[in-house]
Amino acid sequence: MEIKVGIIGTGRISNVHINSLKKIEGVKIISVCDIVEEIAKKRAQEIGCRFYFDYKEMIEKEKLDAVWICTPCDTHTEIVLFCIEKNLPFFVEKPPALKEEECEKVIEKLKEKNIPNSVGFMLRYDLAVEKLKEILKNEKVIFISAEWFWTIPLVDSIKSKEKAGGQIVDQAIHFIDLIRYVFGEIRSVYTRRVRGFFPEEKLYTGDDASCTIFEFENGIYGNLLCTYSLFPEITKYYPPKIRFICKKKLIEYLQKKLIIITSDKYEEFIWNEDPYFLEDKEFIESLKMGDMTLIRANYFDSMKTLKVALSANISMETGREIKI
Ligand SMILES: NC(=O)c1ccc[n+]([C@@H]2O[C@H](COP(=O)([O-])OP(=O)(O)OC[C@H]3O[C@@H](n4cnc5c(N)ncnc54)[C@H](O)[C@@H]3O)[C@@H](O)[C@H]2O)c1
Repeated sequence: MEIKVGIIGTGRISNVHINSLKKIEGVKIISVCDIVEEIAKKRAQEIGCRFYFDYKEMIEKEKLDAVWICTPCDTHTEIVLFCIEKNLPFFVEKPPALKEEECEKVIEKLKEKNIPNSVGFMLRYDLAVEKLKEILKNEKVIFISAEWFWTIPLVDSIKSKEKAGGQIVDQAIHFIDLIRYVFGEIRSVYTRRVRGFFPEEKLYTGDDASCTIFEFENGIYGNLLCTYSLFPEITKYYPPKIRFICKKKLIEYLQKKLIIITSDKYEEFIWNEDPYFLEDKEFIESLKMGDMTLIRANYFDSMKTLKVALSANISMETGREIKI
């Protein structure tokens, strides 16, 4: 069985998915679409497929089995709603939307029509996360501490907090999702932030740093430190990480890596498999088998993650703790 795929948005992240999809047996990329004509044409030439400048035209004309939506976040909802209307399975990059009301509209439609869908929280497919989830079942977690230090976004569409949601909604949302996935639900968030250190960055409207406290449903607390104030190379020396402080044990998660420290042992475990590839492979597999249980982050669950991230934004605006 061949799965015929269309790609909507052929910018930065689409390359990652295109490369994965090319490696998966039984997948054919039929067409790509981008509103910037040169980008669409160039990508189509590289793949050897048709190109469009209007996603609606592409969906109407091609007989696709699924689309990968790789456009900026503020376009996700209208494209997702069109896919549902056309009964077309979709993978949508994170964050699923910019506002909770948008997600609610989508969920209402998905309740009427159960269209297969997957949201780009690829860390759920990281084999290190699989192992972490298993380990945490037998641990008493006392505190969770996450950090994501980076630079002002390199892509213009993400520089604007109004268009992309800011660092927590666009980037650290991966960690909020991961923590929910391996540990449990968040009951409330309280966030403080600083901004205004980069007046020379004309397109940038985000926060320069923020500090969030989470309260989990089981009563423990965690924090998340974010900054866009550094430089792209920082992740080479200081990669984004989550530390699970357990009884007499520290477990640190870094992408594709776990470090476990006890009083008498320091252990490192590394996995080579690419979580983006595994994420795409599982969605294709689920379409082939008609088995949606293979999808680890569907739209319904992803909305809960988005709600936590958006609540952090509300908290930093209002100075109040926000109950989820
Ligand atoms: N999962 C991850 O690790 C990860 C990493 C990077 C980006 N992303 C997400 O992927 C999405 C895209 O980010 P990016 O960095 O690739 O952005 P980008 O700006 O590099 O690419 C987006 C592309 O979409 C095109 N586009 C915009 N509106 C369109 C429309 N209506 N129809 C067709 N094409 C349209 C743009 O012209 C652009 O080429 C965002 O939601 C972002 O948060 C996820």
